[in-house]
Amino acid sequence: MSTRLIPPQTKDAMSSDERRARNLRLYHEEQLESGFSDQGLLVDVWPFLKPQKAWLSVALGAVIATAGLSLIRPLIMLWAIDESIKTGDPAVMMRGGAAFAGVAILEQLIGFVQIYATQVVGVRAMADLRLYIFKFLGSLPLAFFERQPVGRIVTRVTNDVDAMQELFSSGALNALGDLISLVGVVIMMVSLDFKLSLIGFMAMPPIAILVFVVRRRARDAFRSIRGETARMNANMNEQVSGVALIQAYGRQRAMSGEFDLINSSYRDANIRSVKYDAIQDAAIDALSSVSLAAIVIALGYHAASFGTVVAITSYLRQFFDPISMLAQRFTLLQAALAGAERVFGLLRVEQRDAPTQAAGSDGDSSWAMELSHVNFAYKPETPVLHDVSLSIAVGQRVALVGPTGSGKSTITALLLRLYELSAGTVRVFGQDVSTLERDELRRKFAVVPQDVFLFPGTLADNISADETPDLERVRRVIEELGVADLLLNRPEGLLTQVRGGGSNFSAGERQLIAFCRALYRDAPILVLDEATASVDSQTEARLQAALNKLMEGRTSLVVAHRLSTIVNSDTIVVLQQGRVVEQGTHDHLLKQNGLYSLLYRLAFAKEQTQVLLDDPSSTDASA
Ligand SMILES: Nc1ncnc2c1ncn2[C@@H]1O[C@H](COP(=O)(O)OP(=O)(O)O)[C@@H](O)[C@H]1O
Ligand SMILES: [Mg+2]
Repeated sequence: MSTRLIPPQTKDAMSSDERRARNLRLYHEEQLESGFSDQGLLVDVWPFLKPQKAWLSVALGAVIATAGLSLIRPLIMLWAIDESIKTGDPAVMMRGGAAFAGVAILEQLIGFVQIYATQVVGVRAMADLRLYIFKFLGSLPLAFFERQPVGRIVTRVTNDVDAMQELFSSGALNALGDLISLVGVVIMMVSLDFKLSLIGFMAMPPIAILVFVVRRRARDAFRSIRGETARMNANMNEQVSGVALIQAYGRQRAMSGEFDLINSSYRDANIRSVKYDAIQDAAIDALSSVSLAAIVIALGYHAASFGTVVAITSYLRQFFDPISMLAQRFTLLQAALAGAERVFGLLRVEQRDAPTQAAGSDGDSSWAMELSHVNFAYKPETPVLHDVSLSIAVGQRVALVGPTGSGKSTITALLLRLYELSAGTVRVFGQDVSTLERDELRRKFAVVPQDVFLFPGTLADNISADETPDLERVRRVIEELGVADLLLNRPEGLLTQVRGGGSNFSAGERQLIAFCRALYRDAPILVLDEATASVDSQTEARLQAALNKLMEGRTSLVVAHRLSTIVNSDTIVVLQQGRVVEQGTHDHLLKQNGLYSLLYRLAFAKEQTQVLLDDPSSTDASA
């Protein structure tokens, strides 16, 4: 019996491991744009190189000059040796040596200029590229980021651009110099001694084949390296941001298993690339020695002057040097191209935020917010909102209620046009949101979201949400909301630094900060999404009074869970599974005896005692 039990068990264990590996791979899968041509990538890079034209020409000039100078050196040797043998004058050798040294030093000087100029071009162009990518990311719709792990995006801006920069720091332009010297060397050798040169060139065809074969594989290896780097960064990022939860649930082992899988693929891809590099180097070296040996053998049957022999062998070395360098640079080029593919693949994402449309027929501007027949889905397969219509008049207080996942937060996101609708229209003060500039639209709103995000900066920066906080006003806002004792109890007060997306503030404190932010903004529409869910009922009661004042003279949409907020609203909209099922005043809805009255009686009735405490009129005594 045990023999029957064990095999399926091991099989299951294996397949679960495989399943995990596959899931991990699927999660990190990138739809890499294919069909990039090398020339196409060059066209993409050019706009970033163009501003560096001056440095680029200096570098090019220097490359050509050094290549030319290197061709002169063996000629000097040839002249000095043959002349001194002919004349027996040691002064000839002296002059030859001096000229040789002079040329060599000049070559190095120009070489310095060339390396410096190329690096400057690369560093500047890549800095521009990084800034461009960063700005581009800012123009992408929210939906794009929900499909991309953060680490992957970061990798594009950092590591992938670095791979491109490597091309410059390794002296990519030298490839041109290499080519020039190669052609020059061939011409020189052929004109010095045609037959000897031909013997030397016999190594060419095998090298060409080798480079051709290695090229493709090296590029594949570099693609894997770049892909694995992105995966690794994405994985690290998620594990570090979730470290509290990972530790709390003892998931460290599973997590390091995942990391290990990615790390191993990264290592293997690196090993592959190193292998191709080594094969290429060794093969070229071997071929160059064989050529030299062939020339030595040929000399037994072929007469040439001593100077010619010295010059030819010296050119032969100069012949293989650029070939070997070219092959190495080719590898680097493959690495850079693998990075470029990813960077420009991102930049080609046809997902820029939908453009602002031409103003169409405006609706009635006495409605502050209006949704008509709105359908919406985050992912095409799973619709979230179905034919939602609701109108909120200027100055009204509207409560949005409904079970978790019914689409309340989604409606607030659509009002701000954070996502594009599948069908229907959203109007704000009578204007279709797709015809408004995003900034203009969003200035009309002050939002206290469900998940408060604090950005890097001080507490004051976070409340003012713009570059230069008016500290006086920030302080007034805090006073008005009556939360100074809760927010300003740190030694640095308003200048307390916010760390790690606000992890040094509690969820409740973050919500209070979001309240201050909303009040500071002073916008005509107030949107509160379960804004007091994380504060205790005493603090909430304090906030309630301030909130009532905040809502005065403004239109407000409140996603509420507390009865007190709901009951006092002008209109209550009840949402269920993405549909508006009821709409009206508290009394009206109670009479309807539908979902609202059910929710009211079941869940909210429990709160009755709480309501008495929270009711602003009953808190007067404590205030
Ligand atoms: N960014 C998102 N991507 C995909 N689905 C989402 C996203 N945000 C919310 N949803 C889904 O949309 C539905 C409505 O969510 P939401 O509007 O947040 O509900 P509520 O705020 O009423 O609790 C839920 O089923 C949720 O799973
Ligand atoms: Mg919500």
